[in-house]
Amino acid sequence: MRRLVLGNWKMNRTVSQSIALVRSLLPLLPRSADREVAIAPPFTALAGVAPLLKGSAVGLAAQDLFWEDEGPYTGEISGLMLQDAGVTYVLVAHSERRRHLEETDRVAALKVRAALRCGLKPILCVGEDETERAAGRARDVVRAQMARALEGSVPGETPHLQIAYEPVWAIGSGRAATPSQVAEMHDLIRAELRGLYGETGSVVRVLYGGSVTAENVDELMRTPGVDGLLVGGAALHAGQFARIVSYGL
Ligand code: PGA
Repeated sequence: MRRLVLGNWKMNRTVSQSIALVRSLLPLLPRSADREVAIAPPFTALAGVAPLLKGSAVGLAAQDLFWEDEGPYTGEISGLMLQDAGVTYVLVAHSERRRHLEETDRVAALKVRAALRCGLKPILCVGEDETERAAGRARDVVRAQMARALEGSVPGETPHLQIAYEPVWAIGSGRAATPSQVAEMHDLIRAELRGLYGETGSVVRVLYGGSVTAENVDELMRTPGVDGLLVGGAALHAGQFARIVSYGL
């Protein structure tokens, strides 16, 4: 399975800053067939960045989408619009959206459906918060998030689907999950995928996200069950992101 490293820029960088970041990033990236790279700039920068990525090995991702394809939904962006702007991947239900915008698993399910319908590859984000982990509920939380958000998807869609395990307490905290925590949760996610889709569940990539840095990337990528990474803060610096993408080389 080809691994995927995706840089989530969150609500950072203007259009001109995004173009500058891509220009400095592209020459630093390794050419290695065993890994795929994508970046998720803010919506406003997608169309500006897309032509720079054409012909490069870097894919374009969006950070969110709406569940309808067009209509009276002021302020929203649809999967069709993203597809037209050159987007391949789209994050769904990142924990920052769950927290600040009250996105639920039901909304996540609608967005997964919309992404697949529009020919995009959804990356469903799941993960427990600190209180849930302390209460020993991490496994139950992630299982429930997956079951609800993947409702209605079928085995034939698995080649387009990825899951990102992002423990909320590890995001932006400088406190990445330990390899044993990551291995345990990825194993659980894989088991859930097999339960939902049978053998075809094994083609879904399971990414880890939360305080990934150039320092911990090698250990994380050696951890069993890790098929890629979702990188936040470190993705905003061309040198750091390029070093992360160069893991193991
Ligand atoms: P971080 O963010 O790398 O800054 O912890 C990860 C994410 O939110 O995807």
